[in-house]
Amino acid sequence: MPANLIKRDVITALAARAAGLDQSGGDPRLKQVVNRLLADLMLAIDELDISMDEFWRGIAYFTQAGKQNEFGLIVPGVVLEHFLDLRLDEAERRAGLATGTVRTIEGPLYISGAPISKGEARLDDGTDDGEVLFMEGQVRDVSGEPIVGAVVDVWHANTMGNYSHFDPAQAAFNLRRRIETDKEGRYRFRSIMPSGYACPPGSQTEKLLQAMGRHGNRPAHVHFFVTAPDYRKLTTQINIDGDKYLHDDFAFGTRDELIPRVERITEAAEIYKLGLNKPFARIQFDFSLTKEVAGAPATIVAREHAEAA
Ligand code: DHB
Ligand code: FE
Repeated sequence: MPANLIKRDVITALAARAAGLDQSGGDPRLKQVVNRLLADLMLAIDELDISMDEFWRGIAYFTQAGKQNEFGLIVPGVVLEHFLDLRLDEAERRAGLATGTVRTIEGPLYISGAPISKGEARLDDGTDDGEVLFMEGQVRDVSGEPIVGAVVDVWHANTMGNYSHFDPAQAAFNLRRRIETDKEGRYRFRSIMPSGYACPPGSQTEKLLQAMGRHGNRPAHVHFFVTAPDYRKLTTQINIDGDKYLHDDFAFGTRDELIPRVERITEAAEIYKLGLNKPFARIQFDFSLTKEVAGAPATIVAREHAEAA
């Protein structure tokens, strides 16, 4: 069929009626958004001459993605989660907010309610024979003042790139903890070095990426929410330097400021001091939080999370 069969004002009139703009009831914001998205979609169908087969293949794709609970995976893969971060960054810049540690995507694999402890924690349950990782740092105000009692909520994958809860082979809350900073604003934890995550084989997410000639790999990374009363919630990650996918993250989460140096400790005395019998890795990373300001765009995002059983 040829493209551009329908006049633009016919399309916008249809979208307006379908979104109930001529009705007094309903949610005005929802109507505004549905109207715009419908009009844009119909314009795209008409301009690109999207066939009925293509259209229904798309609907079948979404239906299956919903059944498999994959929208949370698709969103970062098609850059939308990173795009929302860029918008929030720019809104904060325009609001004149001081910049602390840069944010990056939350991703779909957070579970709330991880065990909480003061100052330090061990994240791994000892069943994964990965490289031992010690990570530590301070949570500070943008002026450099330590923040006592901040909560560092950390989660990451195991050496297979899998996350507990989503991976039935792991114990509940494995590699997930909340650590309250000590009286110097410090946190520290022992864990294992994560491996990069790959979106599930055979998933709708992977099918879409492959159809676009892309891969579904992320570099190894560690996620954080850092919170403290009167400060803006920070959602971020660190990426593990040296990973093959460091600058080729399918989820667009890597940011240059979030690649700390990974120190490899091989001296016997240091290894012995920590009760280990093999070399280990150490990462030092400080977080800097911005004070909450009335009227600033919210950094606490209402989002559904899977619940621990
Ligand atoms: C996805 C997985 C992650 O571990 C992550 O941090 C971001 C995105 C995903 O499957 O889309
Ligand atoms: Fe992740």
